[in-house]
Amino acid sequence: MDYMILGAGGHAKVVLDAIVSAGGHKVVALTDNDRARCGREAAGLPVLHEDDAVQRHPPGSVLLVNGLGGRSSTADRRRYYARFRAMGYEFAVVTSPSAHVAASARLEPGAQILTRAVVHPDAAIGIDVIVNTAAVVEHDCVVGAHSFIGPAAVLCGRVRVGAGVFIGAGAIVLPELEVQDGSVVGAGAVVAKSLGPHARVAGVPAKPL
Ligand SMILES: CC(C)(COP(=O)(O)OP(=O)(O)OC[C@H]1O[C@@H](n2cnc3c(N)ncnc32)[C@H](O)[C@@H]1OP(=O)(O)O)[C@@H](O)C(=O)NCCC(=O)NCCS
Repeated sequence: MDYMILGAGGHAKVVLDAIVSAGGHKVVALTDNDRARCGREAAGLPVLHEDDAVQRHPPGSVLLVNGLGGRSSTADRRRYYARFRAMGYEFAVVTSPSAHVAASARLEPGAQILTRAVVHPDAAIGIDVIVNTAAVVEHDCVVGAHSFIGPAAVLCGRVRVGAGVFIGAGAIVLPELEVQDGSVVGAGAVVAKSLGPHARVAGVPAKPL
């Protein structure tokens, strides 16, 4: 089935690249919620206002790809996902051909495993999760819905990440720890103790911000 990407910014370009590299699916459009930024082309594709995109490509005719990234929050992605699911759209799993996903790993709808990322055996990646460029999700990890695993971040074996968690670029979570719902881990942090819900930490070892 054809794909349509929600958003037309930086992350949208990255997921588009993964889809085009993998082949097999045509991307029909990118979307924007600001009419002033619509009507142009991005990466050779039309940028449609969301209302027009929904009319032209109704649920059932395309699979959606969440093209919103996140600088330090997963809230916008989550809102987008919920809104379009409520309209009846389904979300595609996107896996870059340069990523490695073990046969026993589970990917839920909307999961994105991007360039050179690794998802090792028996890991479970929840709905609408991004495993970004060169990130590593080791064996038996669980990553909850809408979470963002930043570029080159590492979740060591058996780590449990809740829903809506943001792990910054290059951060490391040590084995068997838990990072609960809504927490934010700064870029480059080393998480050496489990984190409760809505924690905000950074540094080595990670401390509250
Ligand atoms: C942790 C983070 C979310 C904090 O953002 P914030 O709340 O806006 O924090 P601020 O930028 O106001 O910084 C607050 C303080 O924390 C420090 N700080 C911020 N991020 C830090 C980090 N990653 N490591 C260590 N210290 C950090 C700042 O230097 C500042 O210190 P100060 O009060 O002594 O001046 C953000 O800095 C971060 O690391 N984001 C990750 C971005 C990323 O990896 N994106 C991937 C996109 S592909």
